[in-house]
Amino acid sequence: MNRITLALTALILMAGPAYCADGAKIFQLQCKTCHQAKSSLAGPGLAGVAGRQIASLGDFTYSAGLKGKKGSWTDANLDAFLSGPARFAPGTRMLMGVTAPADRAAVVDYLKTLK
Ligand code: HEC
Repeated sequence: MNRITLALTALILMAGPAYCADGAKIFQLQCKTCHQAKSSLAGPGLAGVAGRQIASLGDFTYSAGLKGKKGSWTDANLDAFLSGPARFAPGTRMLMGVTAPADRAAVVDYLKTLK
């Protein structure tokens, strides 16, 4: 391997994580201020949210908008909510989602690990 190949390989290895969406990191940066495992004033607890009925925690006061949604948090519903919270549930108090589809998929996968 010549020096240029070596340098390029090192560069690709270092740049790698930046190109591959990291759900845990996205959650830390964009969700954790409002969401912990348990409900807080800012947001409902997200431990076990995957597969749970929408807006179903007894210890959090949901908006009428989210409360009015039927069904459970399937991958498709999580993706739709995170792609545009107010579009999915008009009147929701969660305002910001995740714009990039790959980031959304990564964060949805990460939510499944929260027990
Ligand atoms: C500024 C605070 C805030 C941030 C940041 C935030 N959320 Fe929320 N989230 C809320 C609130 C408030 C609700 C309840 C909304 C309602 O009642 O309409 C909510 C609801 C949810 C729900 C539905 C939970 C349930 O019990 O039905 C999910 C899933 C969710 N958020 C995921 C996320 C993810 C993933 C992120 C990060 C990408 C995120 N949220 C970032 C405040 C926030």
